[in-house]
Order: sequence, then C-alpha cells, then structure tokens
Amino acid sequence: MDIFLDFSNLEEIKKWTQEGIIDGVTTNPSIILKDGVLDLESGTRRICAALGDRPVSVEVTTNDHEEMLRQAQTFACWGPNIVVKIPIVNQDGISSLGVIRKLTTENIAVNATAILSFNQAILAAKAGATYVSIFAGRIADEGNDPAVAIRNVRAWLDMWGYTAKIIVGSIRGAIDVQSAALAGAHIVTIPPQFLPKMVDHKYSRDTVRQFNEDAAKTSREVVKKMAAR
Ligand code: E4P
Repeated sequence: MDIFLDFSNLEEIKKWTQEGIIDGVTTNPSIILKDGVLDLESGTRRICAALGDRPVSVEVTTNDHEEMLRQAQTFACWGPNIVVKIPIVNQDGISSLGVIRKLTTENIAVNATAILSFNQAILAAKAGATYVSIFAGRIADEGNDPAVAIRNVRAWLDMWGYTAKIIVGSIRGAIDVQSAALAGAHIVTIPPQFLPKMVDHKYSRDTVRQFNEDAAKTSREVVKKMAAR
C-alpha cells in the first residue's frame, strides 16, 4: 500500500519524504488555502520537483466543465508527475465523467475526487480515472461506514480487472489509516499531523529507555571488571 501526504507545505513534504514513507502528494483548494500557498503554479511545481517521479494531485478550481478541461491541460504542463483532481460532479450535481474521459484520452492522469459512494467510484473508474478518491471522514460524517465502501469498491475493481487505484482521503485520525488499509485501500493520503501519532508509542519509548539503561549498566560492569584486573 502506498502512503501519500495530504498537504502542500513544501518543508513538511520534504521532511516526511526523507523519512522514506511518502509515495505521492495530494492537495485540494482548502489545503492550499490553509497552507498559505498563494501562487498555485509555483507552489505545485516545487512540490513536483521535490517528489521526482511520484504523483502530485492538484485540483481544478472551477464549477464549469469546459474550464475544468482547460485548467487540467494547463496543470498537466507543470510537471511529468502531475495528476489532475476532477470532482465526480460539480457543485450543482452535474456529472464530470465526460471531463474525466476526455482527459484520459489525452493521457492526462485523473484523480476523481469527492467520492462518497460505491456507485460514484465505479463510474469514475469506468470513465478512465487513474485514481478514485474515497473521502472516508465525510462518509463517516453522514453516519455510514467508510470501510464498507472501500472494501466493496476494491472487490469490484479486482473482479472486473480495472486498474484504477483507490486513494482514501479525508483522514480524521490515526485509526482511519488502519481501517482504510485493512479495507483494501491501494493508497491512504494522510495529513502530516497524524504521522507522529502513528510512529510513536509510549511503551516503545519505555522499552528503548530500558534497553539504553541496561546497555549503560553493562558498560559500567565492563569498566569495573577491567579496573579489577
Ligand atoms: C484528499 O484527496 C482530499 O482532498 C482530502 O483528504 C479531503 O479531506 P477533508 O474531508 O478533511 O477535507
């Protein structure tokens, strides 16, 4: 399973990339706003350069399907690893499947985003999306179990041989990563504040402390024995 960083701050991206666990980056207009990236093009180009050949998702910022196409074609020139996020529908509920299809025929990788149901995911896969982004936290907000949707979409993709990969986003806690991973996500995109919580454990610290203290005791014993000779 791959791990993406759901963030746009370059320093944080570099930090976690150096830890060897980041396979890609996803952003969206809310993340861009929160991280204070005022120039989308230069900010995205810098992330693309830092990631090498790993995918970087950048989302269109319009409700108009023709303009989505134009933006996507522009974004695709910002780096060889650009993936364009297209919402499955616009804010009026009009399908974006045609946009996904068109971009796919132009060899532009698409991340179909804002997916909240099984049916949306399979339609995006049929339209040719490279990734389908299932929003776990938002599915849970509505009282539904995201693991069920993830498991069902994964089973359907595998059953019919679709190559689309499931990205699980909208992560609200470390447990969501575990649930998504076990439900069959190909990729989980994680806001960086959860990574220290995932790697740390109080008892791991205590264990390491005990080993360090015992190693120091052993050294003192060795010194004592040498002195007694
Ligand atoms: C990722 O691709 C999504 O844009 C992101 O995870 C959405 O998260 P949110 O539901 O917390 O806004």
